[in-house]
Amino acid sequence: MAASMTSNPKILNPRSPFARVVLLTAFCLVFLIVTLRSTTDHVRRITNQLDHVQNVQELSVAPDCSMNTTHLQSLQHKYGLTDRIEYGRRYVRFHRQDIQRKGLTTVNEDLFPTAFDAIDIQNPPSTTTCLKPLEVAVPRSPYPRTVDASDLLFGISTTYGRLIDPRTSPLKEWAHWLTDGRGNSNGAGLILRLVDASESELEDTRRTMGSMGIDVKVYLSNSATHMAQRYLSLLPALYNDPSRKHRKWLAMCDDDTFFPSMHALLDRLSTFDHHSDLYIGTLSEDINNIQRHGSQAFGGAGVFFSLHTASVITKLHDSCSTDQKLQESNTGWGPQGDILLRKCIYENTEIRLTMLRDLHQLDLQGDPSGFYEAGLAPLSLHHFKGGSWHWAKPYEGAQIIHGCGEACYLQRFVTTDDFIISNGYSVAYYPYGIQFDVNQMERTFSAAPDDFGSNLDFMLSPQRGSLVETGRKVAWELQESTIEADGSVRQTYIRKANDHRWTENPGGKQMFEKDGLMELIWIS
Ligand SMILES: *[C@@H]1O[C@H](CO)[C@@H](O)[C@H](O)[C@H]1NC(C)=O
Repeated sequence: MAASMTSNPKILNPRSPFARVVLLTAFCLVFLIVTLRSTTDHVRRITNQLDHVQNVQELSVAPDCSMNTTHLQSLQHKYGLTDRIEYGRRYVRFHRQDIQRKGLTTVNEDLFPTAFDAIDIQNPPSTTTCLKPLEVAVPRSPYPRTVDASDLLFGISTTYGRLIDPRTSPLKEWAHWLTDGRGNSNGAGLILRLVDASESELEDTRRTMGSMGIDVKVYLSNSATHMAQRYLSLLPALYNDPSRKHRKWLAMCDDDTFFPSMHALLDRLSTFDHHSDLYIGTLSEDINNIQRHGSQAFGGAGVFFSLHTASVITKLHDSCSTDQKLQESNTGWGPQGDILLRKCIYENTEIRLTMLRDLHQLDLQGDPSGFYEAGLAPLSLHHFKGGSWHWAKPYEGAQIIHGCGEACYLQRFVTTDDFIISNGYSVAYYPYGIQFDVNQMERTFSAAPDDFGSNLDFMLSPQRGSLVETGRKVAWELQESTIEADGSVRQTYIRKANDHRWTENPGGKQMFEKDGLMELIWIS
């Protein structure tokens, strides 16, 4: 090497034109690097200044440790709390960073380093135990206010009665995924069909949803047509909507389908070629239901069609929706729209279902905790309004995304004192420690109507045993979330003393004598 260099001294001779070019290039490069460096330093200084400004703002939302009697009493009234409760409040300061969302994020601090406050709601102290904020890192995920969902046109069929019944009304959930969270459409459209509604009911629905910022067209549909046929005919209605021109995906779902994170949904859809023939959805979690009804998109999880697939079904619609086809789509539980749709596609085309496993039909009964506490980032949720299915509050839980971003919802944090926060669902405490596999779902729920134990294993993976009635777990569950004026999000989690789940053993002694109220306040 050295020999070859000395044997070619010309190359470094400044009088050689080649060497001049080399030296000039080197000089330019050094100059460029120095300039870039100082620019980067400058940007870094500005960023530091911004951080400083932010720190000053952070100080202004330092923990408020005062007790608000009116607030406590209104919670007592709403959730039937005992007068004497155990109360805990913790501020959680999230740091949005360029990190991946993990299934479980370790926080090297206690969540509640001191005992809960014993409080009499009728005569509360003026302050609560004041803890410094818990510091946690979260992915820098986007906010609902920045989403452009205009690629999507949804179709839903329901009744006016369900819209106005507080137990079933989906309006606030719809506003979550069809608006920016501030009363403006996020670009996604909705074709809503109301079965047997009167003219004034249609008008009332248009007015109410319009005032919520939802871009909706409301139409009447007639119960003389079978539900399954009405479902199939929704796709041609979406296809024939004039807004099709600027859509990429036509989607059908149930009135109780919830999409917590629209950026995530759109990101995932963008991994598919919307010009190709696509029928995207997911199966039921329950292999019983797949055996019973067939292998097809279970519509409650949401079904997505590329425009070309929709055009094919639109042409086939009449022949796919005959009385004969209707009969063939009856697997003993009445004709099913999902089956009619699958038969239409499978019997006439080569298009087959593309699985999107983060959509969830949630054919689960009983306590759904194990699912919501599994650290998942679901693209859809379904069947959470009780009745024969499970009961959960994903709308209330998902409000956290207005604070720390979309990826925060259901993100899990484990603290050194054996608490696991499933953000927006629960705060669970494991008095004997966390000796189980946190990557497996706790089997708190059951399959319906026949649970032979492993029905759900294929879709949800085998689940670990339930800790209910073992004394090894207790959970405070989210009831409400409030976005405060300063942008912080206050979550209210409640644990009832008489909850049958939190006993030492089946039918045994309750683990707690008083109800528990926990508030997590997420600040930046
Ligand atoms: C106390 O709580 C009530 C009811 O939630 C609320 O209207 C009021 O603004 C709160 N007062 C303070 C000082 O935060």
